Amino acid sequence: MARLALLLAALLLSCLLLSYRMDAKEYMRCQLTRELLLKYGINKTFLSNWICLIEHESNRSTKVLKRNPNGSRSYGLFQINSKEWCRVSRKGGLCGNKCEDFLDDNIDDDVACAKRIFQRDGFKNWPGWSASCRNPQNLPNLRLACKYR
Ligand SMILES: *[C@@H]1O[C@H](CO)[C@@H](O)[C@H](O)[C@H]1NC(C)=O
Ligand SMILES: *[C@@H]1O[C@H](CO)[C@@H](O)[C@H](O)[C@H]1NC(C)=O
Ligand SMILES: *[C@@H]1O[C@H](CO)[C@@H](O)[C@H](O)[C@H]1NC(C)=O
Repeated sequence: MARLALLLAALLLSCLLLSYRMDAKEYMRCQLTRELLLKYGINKTFLSNWICLIEHESNRSTKVLKRNPNGSRSYGLFQINSKEWCRVSRKGGLCGNKCEDFLDDNIDDDVACAKRIFQRDGFKNWPGWSASCRNPQNLPNLRLACKYR
């Protein structure tokens, strides 16, 4: 009986893990570029900054969860921080989101929150941008690579 329960628990856990993995998404560079531009209306002027930022924060994967030295955690594509912007386990923070919701494959909430962070702090909020994207020479030429006008 105990073994059966254990088996069921293991089965349940693997289902959960599987569905969690299927919920996450890894974007290709141009797919993400087009989505940010066409679906989310990101200003073309800053598009290559956003792509560079995302590539250095999460490598374009929505499932990235990092623990920071100051005890906060960073979630998803934009590595949104739990200290201020969202709240662990329930909706809250300045964006009014549950942090865990930033890990799924729907990035509507992530983009909305990232825009608010940008409005307040600019790109310098993101260590990945500051370290690797501040110099315009390091930005990808997306117009050429992804063929948008
Ligand atoms: C995009 O940003 C530039 C530079 O800040 C600004 O001049 C332009 O009006 C913006 N375009 C749109 C559509 O918001
Ligand atoms: C980023 O993701 C790609 C696959 O999309 C992988 O090949 C690469 O090693 C990853 N880079 C880092 C730094 O995780
Ligand atoms: C904690 O660290 C993260 C990542 O380094 C940073 O984004 C955040 O602003 C820090 N929060 C505080 C309150 O220091």
